[in-house]
Amino acid sequence: MRPPPPIAMLAELTYRCPLSCPYCSNPIEMARKEAELDTGTWERVFQEAAELGVLQLHLSGGEPVSRRDIVDLVAAARAAGLYTNLITSGIGLTERRLADLDAAGLDHIQLSLQGTDPAMADEIGGYKGGFARKMQVAEWIGAIGFPLTLNAVLHRRNLHQLPRALDMALEMGARRIEVATVQFHGWALKNRDALMPTRDQAREATAIVAEARARLKGRLVIDYVPADYHEDYPKRCMGGWGTSGLNVTPDGTVLPCHAAHSIPHLTFETVLDRSLSDIWYEGMAFNAYRGTDWMSEPCSSCERKTVDFGGCRCQAMAILGDANATDPVCVKSPHHGALQSQADAHAARDDTPLVYRVSPGTTPEPVQ
Ligand code: SF4
Ligand code: FES
Repeated sequence: MRPPPPIAMLAELTYRCPLSCPYCSNPIEMARKEAELDTGTWERVFQEAAELGVLQLHLSGGEPVSRRDIVDLVAAARAAGLYTNLITSGIGLTERRLADLDAAGLDHIQLSLQGTDPAMADEIGGYKGGFARKMQVAEWIGAIGFPLTLNAVLHRRNLHQLPRALDMALEMGARRIEVATVQFHGWALKNRDALMPTRDQAREATAIVAEARARLKGRLVIDYVPADYHEDYPKRCMGGWGTSGLNVTPDGTVLPCHAAHSIPHLTFETVLDRSLSDIWYEGMAFNAYRGTDWMSEPCSSCERKTVDFGGCRCQAMAILGDANATDPVCVKSPHHGALQSQADAHAARDDTPLVYRVSPGTTPEPVQ
C-alpha cells in the first residue's frame, strides 16, 4: 500500500553555526559551505515538497540565518504554499532582518535556549555574549508579533533551570515551549559523560512538566521529550520511519530522520538526482524501516509495535551497532538493563569537560 505523503519537511540549510553546542545532533562529518544547495535549488525543492503534500517547512541548520539568502528562501517557501518555521539561536538576526522575514511571510519562530542566565547559556553555546543577544532578539520577535516557540535543550548541567525556562517562555509571550532532554545523536554522542542527566533529574523534570502542564493549561503548550535512556519504553521516533516527515541536508541528501546517515547499509539519494516524490515513495532508505514488516522479536509480536514502531533506528545503531534491533531503551530489549547501567555510569562522571562542536571543514576527533 502506498504510504501517506509527509506532513513536515526539515530543511537543514547549512551546518555552519556561530554556536558550538556540545549536544548538537548534526553529523560528525559536516558538509562544507561549497557543498550547500544554492538558492534556486532550494526553491525548486520547496515547490516539489508542496506538490508532494508537505504542509510545514522547518528551516533549520546549523544556524539557518547564516544563509545570506534566508529571506529569499522564506519568500519562496511561502509562495509554494508552505507554512514556514525558522529554528534559530537568534545569533545573526537583526531587527531589520526580522522585519524582512516578516515581510517575506515567515509564519513562526522557534528560538533555542542554551541556559536561563548568561553564565550557563554562554558556556553551553560556547559563545560569549550569546545570551544577551538572544534576549534582544526575543524582544524584537515579540514586538513584531511572530508566534514563538521556545526550545530548551536540557541535560545534567542545566536541568535545574527548567522552572525558570518555563517562566521565560511566559515572559516572552511564547505560545509553546519544547522541553527537550538531550538526545544523543551525531555530535552529542561525544558528550554522553558530560551531559547525561541523572535518574533523579529525569524524574524531577517529568514531575515539573506535569505540574506546569496543569497550571499553565490554556496559556502555554509544553512539548516534552524525556530522558529516554532512563525510560522503559522508547519514543516513536519521527512519528514512525517514513510516515510523516523527511529531512533534506545542506547538500541535498534526503533522509528519513536527521541521524539516518549513521546507518551504514542505507543508500541515500539527493534532490540533485531525483524528485522528492520518487525518493519519498520509492527510495531504498525510506522503505527500509517503514511499517512493521522489517521487525524481529520482541517487536514483531508486541502489542505496542504500531505505537512506537520499535523506537529509534539510529539509537539502536549507535548503542548496539544494529539498526534492525529493538531500541535498547525498551524494557523488552535484552539490552535494556545494560543501557540503564550505562546511563547511570555516564551520569556519574562529574568532572567531564564539554566537547564543543567544531565547524564544518575542520577535522573533528573520533567518538570515544
Ligand atoms: Fe516498542 Fe518493540 Fe519495545 Fe514493543 S518490543 S514496546 S514494539 S520497542
Ligand atoms: Fe533516526 Fe530516530 S533519529 S530513527
